[in-house]
Amino acid sequence: MSESFLLEMKNISKSFSGVKALDGIHLQVRPGECVGLCGENGAGKSTLMKVLSAVYPYGTWEGEIFWEGRELKATSIRETEKAGIAIIHQELMMVPHLSVAENIFLGNEISSHGFLDYDAMNARAQELLAKLNVHDINPALPVLNYSGGKQQLIEIAKALNKNAKLLILDEPTSALTSSEIRTLLDLIKQFKAEGMACVYISHKLEEVAEIADTVTVIRDGAHIGTKPMAELNTASIVTMMVGREMKNLYPKEDHAIGEVILEARNITCWDVTNPNRKVVDNVSLKIRKGEILGIAGLVGAGRTELVSTLFGAYPTAHQGTIHLDGREVSIRTPRDAVRAGICMVPEDRKKSGILPIIGVGHNMTVSVLSRFARFGLIDEHQELAQIQAEILRLKIKTADPMLPIASLSGGNQQKAVLSKMMLPEPRVLILDEPTRGVDVGAKYEIYKLIFALAKTGVAVLMVSSELPEVLGISDRVLVIGEGQLRGDFVNDNLTQEQVLAAAIGHAAQVA
Ligand SMILES: Nc1ncnc2c1ncn2[C@@H]1O[C@H](COP(=O)(O)OP(=O)(O)OP(=O)(O)O)[C@@H](O)[C@H]1O
Ligand SMILES: [Mg+2]
Repeated sequence: MSESFLLEMKNISKSFSGVKALDGIHLQVRPGECVGLCGENGAGKSTLMKVLSAVYPYGTWEGEIFWEGRELKATSIRETEKAGIAIIHQELMMVPHLSVAENIFLGNEISSHGFLDYDAMNARAQELLAKLNVHDINPALPVLNYSGGKQQLIEIAKALNKNAKLLILDEPTSALTSSEIRTLLDLIKQFKAEGMACVYISHKLEEVAEIADTVTVIRDGAHIGTKPMAELNTASIVTMMVGREMKNLYPKEDHAIGEVILEARNITCWDVTNPNRKVVDNVSLKIRKGEILGIAGLVGAGRTELVSTLFGAYPTAHQGTIHLDGREVSIRTPRDAVRAGICMVPEDRKKSGILPIIGVGHNMTVSVLSRFARFGLIDEHQELAQIQAEILRLKIKTADPMLPIASLSGGNQQKAVLSKMMLPEPRVLILDEPTRGVDVGAKYEIYKLIFALAKTGVAVLMVSSELPEVLGISDRVLVIGEGQLRGDFVNDNLTQEQVLAAAIGHAAQVA
């Protein structure tokens, strides 16, 4: 064989307590090549990359890894980093209270005369960030001051500092704004031109189609195929991923829309860190029984703040009133909301959606435990039956319902969170970016669930940054821009252009 690979993973298998997560996977990367790694939630993508980067050290998996022609038997991340493999994990791994520079140099600190040299680290961090065309990050400030997108760039600066020859990006854009995504994709193209190779994992297949030279698809831990991107398109990748053709991405079903159930009047709330800035500015909305109301807008427009206020989860006081069935209600905490029949699946699963070390099943039933109580004790048998029914219904991939939820793949965690908020049988269900990191097949399942809920009369309020999704399932679309209501459209031949125009403040059309 004449071709020389930068990386060759051969016949990789990995099990977790007897359950095979990877079963004979192959992956090849040439220098300067970008390989898209695709597969459904739980297919094994993150696991494969953890094998490569020695998060799972040599000896805890089977198969062989060749790096620059030599077998690599790394037992620590340090070793793979030294070899030139840098990984940016699906869940960012920064220390929020440490400064940007401290995070970049974590484990590689610059010191002089036995002391950490902060000036040198800050200066070098600034240099690295400048290479990424980033000029508005202060390396001396804590990482928590910066958005998800900026944090992603800080992670990349860290990889650059280590002179990576291969950059692994695991689902890097799920929390980024569209302009941050643009910046990232352009950077990767620039790195590629400079000879850096990359493995790119994303459920956003348009991104994969844009930057990958080759695509490898895995399903249930097995290698399905590797093809040049030139022979593929997003539809054929989907077919390889799910094993069948998916013609219709949105299983739209007719459902009756009834009377107004929830009404918010003149909601205004203020920025937590800047009490003079309104993040939601005098927004009123109504949602009817059985209605699916999409809330579109740019990231940072105030959508999350608006729906968090309706759920009693926004940390500061608000102005305006909330009415249920025509009567004013006081919703100050999520507890008040749940009691009133309003549930919410939050945007940030890691921060407020899950109890990470608790079992998948208990995460799902935590808000309805009293349902299984008998004479003051929990009927565990009954609880388990409910959990198992939910796991089947949502096709949640887990070897055991008692495994900690953090051990599930990202998309499967999301399904468990959805289940947790559906079990209390809410009358109004608020979903904030419900399909983030969820694969196409599972998205379809989630949409089916949303339609099924709407059919039973539940009002669904969905915030989403994915316009095709908003247009694919909503009955009506509200557009929020800079905290204000910029549009209220019946979703009848509504186009992405119309929604975007309203979001950026053109052609506002308030019905
Ligand atoms: N630490 C662990 N303990 C037990 N099972 C695990 C562990 N890590 C992963 N798994 C299982 O291995 C399988 C593959 O998970 P992995 O996270 O690699 O999927 P993925 O392809 O990255 O999915 P996603 O697109 O949702 O991120 C899943 O079934 C998952 O539950
Ligand atoms: Mg993953």
